[in-house]
Amino acid sequence: MAEELVIPTSSDKREKYELLVPQIKALISDETDLIANLANITAVLKSGMGFFWVGFYLVKQNELVLGPFQGPIACTRIRKGKGVCGTSWEQGETLLVPDVDQFPGHIACSSDSRSEIVLPAFDKDEVVLILDVDSNKLNDFDEIDREYLGSIMRLLEGKF
Ligand code: SME
Repeated sequence: MAEELVIPTSSDKREKYELLVPQIKALISDETDLIANLANITAVLKSGMGFFWVGFYLVKQNELVLGPFQGPIACTRIRKGKGVCGTSWEQGETLLVPDVDQFPGHIACSSDSRSEIVLPAFDKDEVVLILDVDSNKLNDFDEIDREYLGSIMRLLEGKF
């Protein structure tokens, strides 16, 4: 396990992910406990990417339940089809929301959140986990975030 996180100094998003994702891979490679791994991933993404809010929701008894996160306190339960997270779960798709006020039914856990990306992870064909990243800036997520955050979800899928 990596003992110290090397924090990116570059302001280039792709370069930051290129430094962080291998560290995440190393961090979770020898650990089988899902919550421990999710907790460390949120810490790496918060400190390394400087996200406003980053966290996981776990599918439990047909609801999303808040898991490890970093940032302001958040809604603890989200139903299928509700908000960005519940919609991503229902559709099994990554959702990029450039302006949360334009997303019908967006759940505002923090009034400072302006844009958001939500990605599902699958066990076989079922969504079992959602990663949610919020920004306090409009239009802060793009295809680079989809690619690298998606690669983190694929790393987790290898461990369910
Ligand atoms: N905005 C999300 C809810 C989760 S919080 O942003 C942490 C949604 O609409 O599903």
